[in-house]
Amino acid sequence: MVKKNQTLGEFIIENQAEFPFSSGELSRLINSIRLAAKVVNHEVNKAGLVDITGAAGETNVQGEDQQKLDVYANEKFIQTLTNREIVCGIASEESEDFITISGQNNDHKNKYVVLMDPLDGSSNIDVNVSVGTIFSIYRRISPIGTPVQMEDFLQPGNKQVAAGYIVYGTSTMLVYTTGHGVNGFTLNPALGSWYLSHPDMKFPEKASIYSVNEGNYVHFPKGVKNYIKYCQEEKEDRPYTSRYIGSLVSDFHRNMIKGGIYFYPTTSHAPQGKLRLLYECNPMAFIAEQAGGKASNGFSRVMDVEPTELHQRVPFFCGNKEMVEKVEEFMAKNPE
Ligand code: AHG
Ligand code: MN
Ligand code: MN
Repeated sequence: MVKKNQTLGEFIIENQAEFPFSSGELSRLINSIRLAAKVVNHEVNKAGLVDITGAAGETNVQGEDQQKLDVYANEKFIQTLTNREIVCGIASEESEDFITISGQNNDHKNKYVVLMDPLDGSSNIDVNVSVGTIFSIYRRISPIGTPVQMEDFLQPGNKQVAAGYIVYGTSTMLVYTTGHGVNGFTLNPALGSWYLSHPDMKFPEKASIYSVNEGNYVHFPKGVKNYIKYCQEEKEDRPYTSRYIGSLVSDFHRNMIKGGIYFYPTTSHAPQGKLRLLYECNPMAFIAEQAGGKASNGFSRVMDVEPTELHQRVPFFCGNKEMVEKVEEFMAKNPE
């Protein structure tokens, strides 16, 4: 039973039975994420005040400049998740390999793996624009009592037991699903509590926003170019509105509330696309589907892609169902 304005703590207790396996562990895991999110939120909010923004002088595994807050958020989430006896391994955008958590007495009894993008849209920090955190949770498949294995992380998105994001925006929100719809909680910074502000979130039926880095137009596949032209055509309900923040979490969040599609296709420079399957696309795809939307690689369901690498990239088309189906139509006509 979803009650608007109840706290996240109350919501977790009342909906315990809806959690897969329902042992209380997943609830505790979500609890630790909300705690880390508060700490990161505090730091993100004061980014303009202290000398914490800017590249940390390192590059991450994808060869991109790493911002200091990326490192900070990564550490906070890892610390918080490690201190609970729930998680056996973590994979992060900021770490090349996964982290093994041996648990109490080194017994490797913990059951869940977490994959995350600790700070998404990090190039927006310097300009005071919304950023986010994305997380994805699976049950391990390797035997309990042994160290976590790569196969635990390389599960298709359809095996996720929970996924969510935090958007550090004008308000900070935590939005997540355990496969029973999507609920959004807003942080009251004065009290440090999360309140259920957006129960049972769904994409609106009428959608008219498209979000893509159109600067890459010349490098897009023909099908994508044709879809963009379709979005811009003068018809009864078109041209659509174009909105692009450059932070997947924020673009997705707006589109889920207002109705729209986000896409990051392959380009001639990025033949696999840019976004990462395991900790960017799959969690957003799970949320999208739970909100009545759809997520595709242009041809088929993102959550059915069999992962082969931790930092694998995938073309991504996500949002309102009809819009994603329309772009799939264009892709099918020009599959190159
Ligand atoms: P991150 O900050 O974690 O590297 O992710 C940035 C991603 C995504 O959030 C955003 O939509 C996209 O990169 C923007 O890419 P372009 O600047 O190429 O448009
Ligand atoms: Mn990202
Ligand atoms: Mn990131």
